[in-house]
Amino acid sequence: MNKSLYYTRTAQWLHWIMAVIFIAAWLIGFYSGNFLSYDVDGSFKGDVISLHKNIATTIIFLLVVRIFWRYTHPAPSLPESMSPRMKTLAHAGHLALYFMLIALPLTGCLYSWSLGYPAPVLYLFNLPPLIAENSAVTAIVKPLHIWLSWAVGILLVGHIAAAFKHHFIDKDHVLKSMTQQDK
Ligand code: HEM
Repeated sequence: MNKSLYYTRTAQWLHWIMAVIFIAAWLIGFYSGNFLSYDVDGSFKGDVISLHKNIATTIIFLLVVRIFWRYTHPAPSLPESMSPRMKTLAHAGHLALYFMLIALPLTGCLYSWSLGYPAPVLYLFNLPPLIAENSAVTAIVKPLHIWLSWAVGILLVGHIAAAFKHHFIDKDHVLKSMTQQDK
């Protein structure tokens, strides 16, 4: 049990770096998927998708570190003022977010590999493809990636709204636990 009110500095950095990368990847994917067309601006759309992939694949590496850190450094407890039901809801929401951190990069990579394209990391190297080009797989993972991206959008809005509610309405330490340290 973590007696401190605050996450460790490493956990805080991992949280905020991954938040920035994840939201940037989401916005770039959303822009490409909904506002760009190969018929009108093919090479630009290709560059934008490439940027989306090169950023988003880093989530896989950061997540491995984050899960290791989470198991070796327990999270601070939720406030006593929260009802058991709200605590369960908060834990379920966090679990769902962790699931998305795995499911989105995984379906994204499978989507690219199934089309015969690479899954590049920071313009440095490609992840080794786990599957060969396969249109039957594309038919499953393409809609899955898109549906998951919408579901995570809703989850993120809920997560951010909950953090603000804790801070401004309940006036407890939940948001500060991700931004401050013991004095
Ligand atoms: C951080 C994880 C990721 C997030 C949050 C994310 C989010 C999104 C979003 C919001 C879209 C647009 C969906 C729509 O059309 O409405 C999208 C499309 C796409 N994503 Fe991802 N994605 C992630 C990871 C990946 C990865 C790792 C790859 C491949 C290596 C990938 C490949 C693609 C491709 C190829 C598209 C289609 C773009 C288009 O058709 O213009 N994604 N993604």
